[in-house]
Amino acid sequence: MTIIAPSLLSADFLNLQRDVEHFNAAKNLWFHLDLMDGHYVPNLTFGKTVLKDLHKVTNHKLDAHLMVSNPQDYVEVLSDIGIHNFTFHWETVSHQDCLVREIKKLYPSVGISLNPATPIEMIPTYIFDHIDLLLIMSVNPGFGGQSFIDGVIDKIKKAKKIRDERNLNFHIQVDGGINDKNAPSLVAAGASILVAGSYIFNTTPSEYLRRVNSLR
Ligand code: DX5
Ligand code: ZN
Repeated sequence: MTIIAPSLLSADFLNLQRDVEHFNAAKNLWFHLDLMDGHYVPNLTFGKTVLKDLHKVTNHKLDAHLMVSNPQDYVEVLSDIGIHNFTFHWETVSHQDCLVREIKKLYPSVGISLNPATPIEMIPTYIFDHIDLLLIMSVNPGFGGQSFIDGVIDKIKKAKKIRDERNLNFHIQVDGGINDKNAPSLVAAGASILVAGSYIFNTTPSEYLRRVNSLR
């Protein structure tokens, strides 16, 4: 079953606990947490204090997406608050394979992320043997509510081909501009985790779960 990952960037920050608890009954759901530093992307979100408190009010897996210039500085800092997956942007570091190894020592799951303009061919194939998740950005990172960039579908297909050919099982996660119209084509192309912010949260809380189900 496709994992749906509501992006809390679009949640009501003044009622975060309430928003999170609306998903208690859902299965195969991760909470997607967008950490931004105001440097790699022109926006700031939340940090360790918020994530730590979130972990206390949910049993769902926490999926950290670091949109920061120096992800290596956060690996140890965030390792004691129950984050399941730690994803960094391929474009932000020079020795990606070392960072993958470092993250893997401290987290159950490690992900790498590619901006829309970064070709998948940038990643040497052996790297795929060591990751648990490939995040394919379908908007330029920094803000919720942007439009899906159709050009990334091809990248999802290429990722699936690599995964199948190498007999691997890393997740293919897609993030940005996802809604009930484009979700089927993403899953058909190979996506196993769909991140959605505005589509899920731009409604009343009693509708959140229905939105999750309609994405599925
Ligand atoms: C964008 C973030 C996304 C964002 C998605 O930089 O990585 O996770 O919250 O929001 P929507 O679904 O509204 O595009
Ligand atoms: Zn994200």
